[in-house]
Amino acid sequence: MTDPRGHWSGRIGFILAATGSAIGLGNLWKFPYITYENNGGAFVVVYIAAIALVGVPIMMAEILMGRRTQLSPVGAFKVLATDRPGGSAWQGVGWLGVLAGFTILSYYSVVAGWTIHYTWLALTGKLATLAADPAVLSAYFGNEFLASGPQQTLYHVLFMALTTGGVYFGVKGGIERVAKILMPLLFSILVVMVIYSTTTSGFGEAIRFLFKPDFSTLTKGAVLEALGHAFFTLSLGMGAMLTYGSYIGKQISIPRAALQISLLDTLIALMACVIMFSIINTSGIEVNKSATILFTTIPTVLVKLPGGGLLNALFYILIGFAALTSTISLLEVVSSFAIDELGWSRHRATVTMGGVITIFGVLNALSLGGNSALTSINLIGRESTQGVFGTMDYLASNWFLPVGGFLIALFCGWILNTATTRKELEDGHGPLTGYGLWRFLIRFVAPLAVGAIIVSVILGKEYQ
Ligand code: TRP
Repeated sequence: MTDPRGHWSGRIGFILAATGSAIGLGNLWKFPYITYENNGGAFVVVYIAAIALVGVPIMMAEILMGRRTQLSPVGAFKVLATDRPGGSAWQGVGWLGVLAGFTILSYYSVVAGWTIHYTWLALTGKLATLAADPAVLSAYFGNEFLASGPQQTLYHVLFMALTTGGVYFGVKGGIERVAKILMPLLFSILVVMVIYSTTTSGFGEAIRFLFKPDFSTLTKGAVLEALGHAFFTLSLGMGAMLTYGSYIGKQISIPRAALQISLLDTLIALMACVIMFSIINTSGIEVNKSATILFTTIPTVLVKLPGGGLLNALFYILIGFAALTSTISLLEVVSSFAIDELGWSRHRATVTMGGVITIFGVLNALSLGGNSALTSINLIGRESTQGVFGTMDYLASNWFLPVGGFLIALFCGWILNTATTRKELEDGHGPLTGYGLWRFLIRFVAPLAVGAIIVSVILGKEYQ
């Protein structure tokens, strides 16, 4: 009866934790602004296609590898690749995943930390004063807050402490418990905000912008960006879903779980867009730097509503929660590696890895602090390579995740045999009529699409 690695309590626990990993700054911050920059409509269609044709199949692949081996990425590849072409070299994919988790977490938690500061600003009433004039808030954010190394460091360290706490208490006692409370809360608050946005005059325009595609505005860069973001938002390509899948039992249907997680993730991303675009349209405020909408434009509108201070605080708490269930999954990948491969106890693994990443992330916080201009916040998957901060992000989003995803697709499509993958996808599900479709997507469509991202990065044409 000993269970040193831990397990989810059941299907719901797994779905909530995995959805918590998927939903984060990628949905609430990045997706709205890249949709805005890429003219909505057609970009949204391509994004949804990327989720369905590439994201869902790779998520199924990751979860099946985790459940099959009950191990984290390095161990999973080691076990599954024994006696197969490539052999132990495949465990390199697991190592890449650990490296990616380390890298992403060290800057993601800096951004996540901003939500703590903004919650505090909202609760003390300071935000209301700043937000009364959009120019003042914008200057405060860019020149004062981002430019302050000590502040960036403080909030990053606080956020890493919360993350480490979540992972420290284990799969069921920490991660699942956090997700079970936070995910429904997040969803409820978003529903309330969507209902509110239907009453604003900018709602109709927001819906048209999002759901009326005009394919003449679509660029090649937008297609690649949609594909790259599908990876980031579903937490794919570095074994996070593989690791979470290693804590499930045979009774869970992997295809159904992957579909549910992806649907919820997409739904939340679209809801975030509806809320933000309604607010922007209604306010008439000109958005000149779309990446900062969340911290400069939104508060100027929210503070004007009745109970605005509280609403603003609630809004940032919610974003912080969404980010927390994501940072927890990033740290879990790194910690479970130490637990499975180095034989460490969970407590030792979490505290050590959490500590090292915190220290490493301070470099990012300080590098951001040194760059006072707003130009340095082109974060998460964008072209910015300024300073340590931008470099980390660039490496992770443009290299580690696509390369990891590409190799996972190749491994499950070409190296594992059909008996293994079919059995794993059918256990807990029953006969899978879509198996042939999955296999086609994982063998051909996913590697070709992801290969396109990699080639375009090599040619230096990404996102242009
Ligand atoms: N998916 C999260 C978001 O959208 C970020 C994230 C968490 C992630 N875990 C990951 C991204 C693993 C890539 C890989 O914000």
